[in-house]
Formats: sequence, C-alpha cells, structure tokens
Amino acid sequence: MSALLEVRGLAKQFGALRALDGIDLDAAQGRLTGLIGPNGAGKSTAFGCISGALKPSAGSVLWRGRRIDGLPYHRVAGLGIARTYQVVQPFGDMTVREATTVGALLHHHRVAAAERKADEVLELVGLAHRANVPGHALTIADKKRLEVARALATDPQLLLLDEVMAGLTPSEAQDAVALLRRILASGVTIVMVEHVMEVLMAVADHVVVIAAGKTIFAGTAADAVRDPGVIDAYLGTAA
Ligand SMILES: Nc1ncnc2c1ncn2[C@@H]1O[C@H](COP(=O)(O)OP(=O)(O)OP(=O)(O)O)[C@@H](O)[C@H]1O
Ligand SMILES: [Mg+2]
Repeated sequence: MSALLEVRGLAKQFGALRALDGIDLDAAQGRLTGLIGPNGAGKSTAFGCISGALKPSAGSVLWRGRRIDGLPYHRVAGLGIARTYQVVQPFGDMTVREATTVGALLHHHRVAAAERKADEVLELVGLAHRANVPGHALTIADKKRLEVARALATDPQLLLLDEVMAGLTPSEAQDAVALLRRILASGVTIVMVEHVMEVLMAVADHVVVIAAGKTIFAGTAADAVRDPGVIDAYLGTAA
C-alpha cells in the first residue's frame, strides 16, 4: 500500500482557535479513504490545508513523497489534487457545461478540448442531459454532482470530496456510491468526508477519524464502528 498523500502533524490556528492540532492521514493510491469526525472536528480545514486554500500553521503534506504544504491553490491543483466544497459554489448564470469547462481549462488550454473534457465528465457523473441548464436551476443532488464534475474536469489524481452526499435521498445516495466506484475504477484516488457510516462501510478501504483537531483512529470502517474511542467521540453523539 503506497501512500499517494501523507499528512503528518498538520495543524491550523485561526486566531486563538486551534482548528487542527496535529492530524495524520494517509491516502493509498487508487483507494477511497473516509474522513469522519464530529461537527467542527477540522475535516474541511484539513481539506483546505491539503488543497492549498489554507496555509497550515505546522506539519507537513507529502504528495508522492514531496512536501507540498504551503504551496498556493493553483500549484496544488496543477499537481493533480482537486477538491469539492461542502457548501456548493455559486454558479451564477453559467450553464452546467460552462461551469464544468472552467475546471477543464486547467489542463486543456484550447476551449474545444476543454468542452470535450467537460462533456466526458458530465456523462460520467450523470449530468449530460442537464448540460445546457443554468447551474443555479439544478436540484441539490445535481448541484453536488456538478461540484464533482467540476473537480473531475481538472483531471485529478486525488479527489477530496467534502460531504457530497449530504442531503441526498437513499436512492440518490445509491447512485452516488455507484459514481464513486466508477471514479475509483478510472484510477482516481479519493478522500471523502462523509457522515453516513453505511456509505463508508460500502466504499471506504480505510477510515480516518478526527476529533477536536486530532487523529483518533485509522483503520477499516468495520473496526471504526467498534472502536470505543470513536464511539465515544463521534458515533455516540451522532446516534
Ligand atoms: N476560516 C475560519 N476562520 C476561523 N475559524 C474557522 C475557519 N474555518 C473553520 N473554523 C473553525 O475551525 C473549526 C473546524 O472547522 P471545520 O469546518 O474544519 O470542521 P468540520 O470538521 O469540517 O465540521 P463540519 O462537520 O461541521 O463540516 C471549527 O471550530 C470552525 O468554526
Ligand atoms: Mg466540514
């Protein structure tokens, strides 16, 4: 199991608040790693620090063995790391296809090639039939799909998904699990923040649990749900 991404002792201070207090997290090539923990544990902050949106206060982020912590967002994106946002981004009047093409322009500098890439990922996520609809007119489930499409359009090797399944109906969640399997089959590594344990049991090879800014567990989802520390810090309160 070679780790594509290795996070060690990652910390982030916001003024007086220590949002991350030294987390460790590994993502193995071609696998799906689940990142869970209570509200405010620091999951989204961790994604911010890994993706270059936030500058870590301490610790290291290694990508294929090289330090990338502190690099600006566009440099990290250029290396092949893409993220979605927990709060879906405003799309204005852009159509689904246009919003996705913006992502594709990272690596495809000709518009026609970027549009072809956009069409390909819209097909993959099941949004091809909505391509000419303005992004703001989509349902929540489709807005989440569009977030994933925009990230995938950048041709990532690592995809950081922040609660892309929140608010989905059970049948939409099933579709989303099928989509995750297709993305993994295409060779993309995934780290996913997700609160529904059944979803993680179904797709995660590995689960990392953080609480109050610290990693408290790393192992299989099946072992996580039996771990007293995890139950105490997260599952007990979630149930
Ligand atoms: N930009 C910011 N400035 C100040 N404090 C922040 C900022 N972003 C996050 N925080 C704080 O850092 C802590 C961790 O927040 P974060 O959003 O990373 O948690 P989370 O695990 O993603 O939670 P949730 O499950 O609710 O999404 C929280 O106390 C939050 O209020
Ligand atoms: Mg969050």
